[in-house]
Amino acid sequence: MPRYYATTPIFYVNDAPHIGHTYNAVTVDAVTRWHRMLGDDVWSLTGTDEHGLKVQRSAEENGRTPQEQADLNSDRFREAWAGVNLANDDFIRTTEPRHHQAVQALLQKAYDNGFVYQDTYEGWYCVRCEAYYEEDDLLDDHHCPIHKAPAEWMTEENWFFKLSAFQERLEAWFEAVPDNITPGGYRNEAMGILKLGLRDVSMTRSSIDWGIPVPWDDDHVFYVWYDALINYATAVGYADDPERFEAWWPAAHHFIGKDILRFHTIYWPAMLMAAGIEDMPHFHVHGFLLLGGEKMSKSGNVTKIAPSEMTEVLGVDGFRHALLRDHPFGPDSEFSYESMVERYNTDLANNYGNLISRVATVVGKKCDGVGPAPQADSPLAAVVAESYATAAEAWDKVQPSQALDATIRIVRDTNEYLQQNEPWKMDPGPEVDAVMGDAIEAARIATVLLWPTIPEAAEAAWKRLGLDGTVAEQPLPAAADWGGYPGGLTVSTGDPLFPRVKG
Ligand code: ME8
Ligand code: MG
Repeated sequence: MPRYYATTPIFYVNDAPHIGHTYNAVTVDAVTRWHRMLGDDVWSLTGTDEHGLKVQRSAEENGRTPQEQADLNSDRFREAWAGVNLANDDFIRTTEPRHHQAVQALLQKAYDNGFVYQDTYEGWYCVRCEAYYEEDDLLDDHHCPIHKAPAEWMTEENWFFKLSAFQERLEAWFEAVPDNITPGGYRNEAMGILKLGLRDVSMTRSSIDWGIPVPWDDDHVFYVWYDALINYATAVGYADDPERFEAWWPAAHHFIGKDILRFHTIYWPAMLMAAGIEDMPHFHVHGFLLLGGEKMSKSGNVTKIAPSEMTEVLGVDGFRHALLRDHPFGPDSEFSYESMVERYNTDLANNYGNLISRVATVVGKKCDGVGPAPQADSPLAAVVAESYATAAEAWDKVQPSQALDATIRIVRDTNEYLQQNEPWKMDPGPEVDAVMGDAIEAARIATVLLWPTIPEAAEAAWKRLGLDGTVAEQPLPAAADWGGYPGGLTVSTGDPLFPRVKG
């Protein structure tokens, strides 16, 4: 069984989650649910990034200790992820002992292998990025290009990571693995960084103590990024279960926003190499969700639309679907409440929800409530086969918006098929049975394919169609084969699965 180990970034606990974070987490959730249906052995990880200057400062501002701040906001992420029905297998916190152990073990290896040395560092530092900037990369008055806030001049005696030693090995990795970073534009961006030539980077801090102690120097803690990236290794047993680590590590897929591309696709692979780990992860990079053209951010513009408000209006499934369908994975994408509502109404209220209730109503009235078997040569069979092929490829390439587009095509074409044949105007008999058997079969397959984004509604629809078991346990690709619906099952009606929402 192929393995698939998927991760979200770990989120800073300086504040509560917003829809930009939710987009990342729901994408990982939907993609891993797809892989679960394919029968892969899946492990999905999310969590919180709790050390560093940013967290320490926001704790001070709120009159809390860093640990109190971390506890509070880590819980908010946990609750937010439960609130959008994330089926993550693990939730890691960087303040956990298992993580301290892994960070110290992995970086001690890098040290023992000769890739760490002591030196002085000076530079412009953006606390909100937790990163140094080259003067040329800053805006006027030394403002950070991402946060548009002043960077600070810092001087520190630090331990350095010999990043420059990995230039050639990183280039070789890019050459050997053409899809190491998708979409391709971000791969080019990472190669651009590599082409400029790598410089060594500071990996410890002596100016703060909210971090993981450096095992070979009591006065230092690890710089938060060196601590944070290692979470992905911690969670699959790097420090405490080498066999488990061996099994899962080669299957690692990191889903990240474009702002953390350099740390993930250059520094992290080099750190792995420095610790003697051969397998490199795959990276899937998305852009920003924007509000009025600006990046949604914790400290900025998101107070108006919390994820919990969206789920109140659209339901959990409705929110998940509209979020992934409306924002292609890769480019920046404007978020708007109005288009989310419109997407929900079009795809789910008017199309999918309507199909499920129509099928139940017409079968109830014209077929004694018992679903007829589909026709082998139904015109819908080809639509389903084509849509499945497109959707499967899109999920594989981490393009949920395209996968959902192909899936909704099945629903739309089936509604049109009903519209053309108008079985509700016919007398009961073989003609109605033929049309309704096809419609149920198409509805069944659409339900299977929609499960990764609308798991609860899909299970409810499955029951209404009278099908056995759960959607979750349907194996792909077999469950998408035309003709799987046996006929003869009792269909039931109910309240609309997706009631229309006023715009
Ligand atoms: O960067 N649209 O944490 P973070 C889309 N702790 N994605 C967005 C977004 C938006 N408007 N705003 C943020 C960190 N994100 C580190 C990660 S991983 C070892 C350490 C994404 O809480 C952002 O791109 O600032 C990043 O991928 C993720 O949320 C976490 O952001
Ligand atoms: Mg950030």
